[in-house]
Amino acid sequence: MSDPAASSPTRTDAVHAGRTHIRQAGLHAPPIDLSSTYPISNLDAAGDSIANFAQGGDGDANEPVYARLHNPTVAHAETAVARLEGASGCVAFGSGMAAMTATLLAARSAVVEDGPDENPHVIAVRPMYGTGDHLLSSGLLGLPVRWVDPNNVRTHVTRATALIWIETPANPTLDLIDIAHVAEQAGQVPVCVDSTFAPPTLQRPLDHGATFSMHSATKFLGGHGDVVAGVVSSNAKEWVERLRHVRVATGALLHPLAAYLLHRSLPSLPGRVSRAQATSMELADRCEGHPHVDHVNMPGRTQQHELCDRQMNGPGTMIALDVGSKERARAVMQSVRLITPAVSLGSVDTLIQHPASLTHGVVNEQAKDDHCITPGLLRLSVGLENTDDLWDDLSAALETFA
Ligand SMILES: Cc1ncc(COP(=O)(O)O)c(C=O)c1O
Repeated sequence: MSDPAASSPTRTDAVHAGRTHIRQAGLHAPPIDLSSTYPISNLDAAGDSIANFAQGGDGDANEPVYARLHNPTVAHAETAVARLEGASGCVAFGSGMAAMTATLLAARSAVVEDGPDENPHVIAVRPMYGTGDHLLSSGLLGLPVRWVDPNNVRTHVTRATALIWIETPANPTLDLIDIAHVAEQAGQVPVCVDSTFAPPTLQRPLDHGATFSMHSATKFLGGHGDVVAGVVSSNAKEWVERLRHVRVATGALLHPLAAYLLHRSLPSLPGRVSRAQATSMELADRCEGHPHVDHVNMPGRTQQHELCDRQMNGPGTMIALDVGSKERARAVMQSVRLITPAVSLGSVDTLIQHPASLTHGVVNEQAKDDHCITPGLLRLSVGLENTDDLWDDLSAALETFA
């Protein structure tokens, strides 16, 4: 395990990762390859390429053949994300949910090959993103879920456990889970961390023993509200190949234009996150002193300092604030003028949303109660605007129910 500050990617990494090919090609900006198919010059080599990709081959296409198998624009974005994550490989998908689905399918296929007597299952910890919770609890993928306490993972692991899924910081409460402790309890079972709320400048799950680090790249990695994408990184070649195999076979591709935008946003990631983080910390302090705010949370703020320091390189840019009731939360959402009332997060502009009705509307009521997804909870994703402008807007909205 490493010190998060020492292991976080440098600004130079963020600017240059996945770009060596550009200078070699005599260019300054990466080219975008939109080909859906490629001319075949050598039939045997093309046939080998298909056979190779169908097994999750390394994606380094000499004979690209067809866009579902390989696209160089996507591959360069993957190289860049892998470098930021400290991973040997990354596989990009058409959305965060596609990335989650592929990880579950890859893990399921591995445990099925191993042939345990029981049906495979997944172990997961609540709270987590509402649609992710729904994907697991609905049984859509034929992989039943066992919801567990993160300190009690060990007692639930069996030969039929395909994967342990955790999300830290958790959407929407911003509670943290100790990745190293879960990885230690997991033994041989792979652990996937949805690290969407903490991009690699803040947290690198693989450094703490996770098998996979997954992001909805729609959020901080894309960073401008114009990309829908998902990425999964790993240091295990066999897992990267399995993920790529799932992508080739199911077609959950990232479009090259989206990959281009994602790659273009990475150089500014460290600067965006550190600026927005400073604003968030200041706003959280001001919210805490506001008479209409009952409770404020950011990673490591009210508790879990030690874990935050050990696992993260700062608390990030998200704030959870409880204003006491749904009616009050609605009034704030309706009153903000500069801040956009919208789901999603990690963009250059500030967004506010009401998890109980929106991102976590599909989560069952008991689970919401048990995991503090209260009617008064609002989730703020802080962007790059001036702190005072944001506070003027938010504090005016908080006054509407005086
Ligand atoms: C923590 C987390 N994981 C996964 C997702 C799903 O990502 P996408 O919307 O890109 O499918 C989201 C979306 O908000 C999220 O917040």
